[in-house]
Amino acid sequence: MVSLIWSRPAVTTVTTVIDGNEVADGIRADLTGAIERLADAGVRPGLATVLMSPDPASQTYVSMKQRACEDVGIEGVHVEVDTDAPATELYGTVEGLNADPDVHGILVQLPLPEHVPAHEALERIDPRKDVDGLHPENVGRLVAGRPRYKPCTPHGVQRLLGAAGVDPEGKDVTVVGRSEIVGKPLANVLTNESEGGNATVTLCHSRTRDLAAKTRRADVLVAAAGRAEMIGADMVGEGATVIDVGINRVDADTEKGYELVGDVDFEAVKPKADAITPVPGGVGPMTIAMLLYNATAAAALQEGVDVDLP
Ligand code: GUN
Repeated sequence: MVSLIWSRPAVTTVTTVIDGNEVADGIRADLTGAIERLADAGVRPGLATVLMSPDPASQTYVSMKQRACEDVGIEGVHVEVDTDAPATELYGTVEGLNADPDVHGILVQLPLPEHVPAHEALERIDPRKDVDGLHPENVGRLVAGRPRYKPCTPHGVQRLLGAAGVDPEGKDVTVVGRSEIVGKPLANVLTNESEGGNATVTLCHSRTRDLAAKTRRADVLVAAAGRAEMIGADMVGEGATVIDVGINRVDADTEKGYELVGDVDFEAVKPKADAITPVPGGVGPMTIAMLLYNATAAAALQEGVDVDLP
């Protein structure tokens, strides 16, 4: 009997680490043409950020957004409302910004203090200035498949997938986390009958039964639950694309006393994935880039200038 010993060539799979900073740079470069066209028409887009929170992370995010505006030629306005002030003070601030013709976009940084119901604040933003896409009118439009502004993080995730060459059409996408700001709108963005959509989306949350079965079967897995490193290797299918929306501060022996980690255990999951986003440097920069995109779109819409945004 002849025995043949087969020696298989070693298969080395190379995981693509999707560089959110690079993709965001591309989006910003695409915006310059539109911002120049607005300038030719005498319009400078204006974006107001409103902060009512002592949370250091929120303060950092807002100042990053303001700096990003400056870099692309958007006029940034920042308003702080005392955390202990009555809700009506925030509402008054929003109404003032609604009436300001130089302000085309308004972003009320979330979360708000407990005594201020977020939906009340968001409903007061003029829907045409709602660059977060969280006003019920804009949520409704997105669900109906006719979005005015796609919420920034979901839009950023969609663009990252496109840049990584992953077309969601026909794919099984599992989203972990049902927040109003990421999970729910992302499910709509990826389900809608449009370019970068047409996926079959499973939206999971804290009451989902057998979460791992649903995450394992995903062609594209999006982690947006806000729980540090909750997605381990056993929850990811071989060859999946993994998008990590989480930004969690965990105690660490660093100068700041903490480090940022995602919802995905990056080192454990990376060998199984075809492509994966890092934290930081993945979805985070895209959220900001898409905010600039929406602010530019808002200025064009309100001033009646045709800018042909990509
Ligand atoms: N808090 C964390 N992310 C966001 C965001 O994208 N928009 C707002 N308004 N608040 C946030």
